[in-house]
Amino acid sequence: MEIKIIGTGSFVPEHAVTNDDLAAIVDTSDEWIRTRTGIRERRISEGEGTSRMAAEAAKRALENAGIKAEELDMILLGTSTPDCCFPSGACEVQAEIGAVNAAAYDLSAACSGFIFALNTAYSFLAAGLYRTILVIGADCLSKIVDWSDRSTCVLFGDGAGAAVVRAEEGDGGRFHMLMGSDGQRGPVLACTSRTVGNFRTGTKPQLGYMTMDGQEVFKFAVKKVPEIIEQVTEEAGVSLEDVRWFILHQANYRISESIAKRLKVSMDRIPMNIESYGNTSAATVPVLLDEMNRQGKLKKGDLLVLAGFGGGLTWGATLFTWQMG
Ligand code: ACO
Repeated sequence: MEIKIIGTGSFVPEHAVTNDDLAAIVDTSDEWIRTRTGIRERRISEGEGTSRMAAEAAKRALENAGIKAEELDMILLGTSTPDCCFPSGACEVQAEIGAVNAAAYDLSAACSGFIFALNTAYSFLAAGLYRTILVIGADCLSKIVDWSDRSTCVLFGDGAGAAVVRAEEGDGGRFHMLMGSDGQRGPVLACTSRTVGNFRTGTKPQLGYMTMDGQEVFKFAVKKVPEIIEQVTEEAGVSLEDVRWFILHQANYRISESIAKRLKVSMDRIPMNIESYGNTSAATVPVLLDEMNRQGKLKKGDLLVLAGFGGGLTWGATLFTWQMG
């Protein structure tokens, strides 16, 4: 059995918001944002919700894979900003693309959402239960960001990325994964906007913005991500040198640099696009993967490691052989 990505797609809103645009609404500057994070601008939804962005990315992934929506057995959407409690974003994508034969559901692991969804898809495929799964990472963080809080609002953007994963006869290619969570440290990165009314007390539903202890997240990321990359390569029986690309969650340029340093891997093998999109949460990894695919940077046989971390706290990595091309 060979499990491989057969198509990728992505979508970001048209509307670009520069650092200078943000400096007009909060006390910040282009210089502060660029030097602390590497971000120059981000795309912000002007009405496109998570499902709309996810569906666009899905259509592009299906087109890239050259398959019809009816061939999908399952749609997994990693998101922490669904447009509503239900129907799930995955079901809305299903309706939009006409994937009538798919089971569809959302999966919540914040910025690790795509990695968790991809690893879940792999498990279904490896078990022989399904043949073709659409995996999406999409978030519309602009809905839950406090636009008066300079310590968070400058970091995030909106977007969606998708990959079609298929199980086929054959024995080429590797696929290894790992995931972890630490619920004890959940408050480090949280959003309570789902707080609901209470039957007995009559409490009204409350809105809540995202809150973050930036330095704790930074420390967590630069320790945990190198650890899981080392672990997943070790478990796969390969060395870091065998890996062509490390496609990491785009949270902060300095976080990726620190990871590179700890792993003693050159930044040439850690592609970045945070400059243009900011941190789009579950979308960062599949958007970057799709960009690299379309730019022809991924060659058949390349060994890739995808790795993410985020709210939960959660973290995950996937090592696999790129089979397209
Ligand atoms: N503009 C100007 N000044 C600012 C801004 C801003 N946008 N934000 C904070 N500051 C100020 C602070 O108030 C503080 O001022 P003070 O010294 O007078 O108190 C000063 O800058 C330094 O603040 P720090 O928080 O120490 O800055 P730091 O160097 O740690 O950078 C940052 C902050 C960029 C958030 C960093 O900690 C980081 O990247 N952490 C990881 C965040 C992250 O990855 N989050 C998401 C991951 S998970 C997910 O994706 C959902």
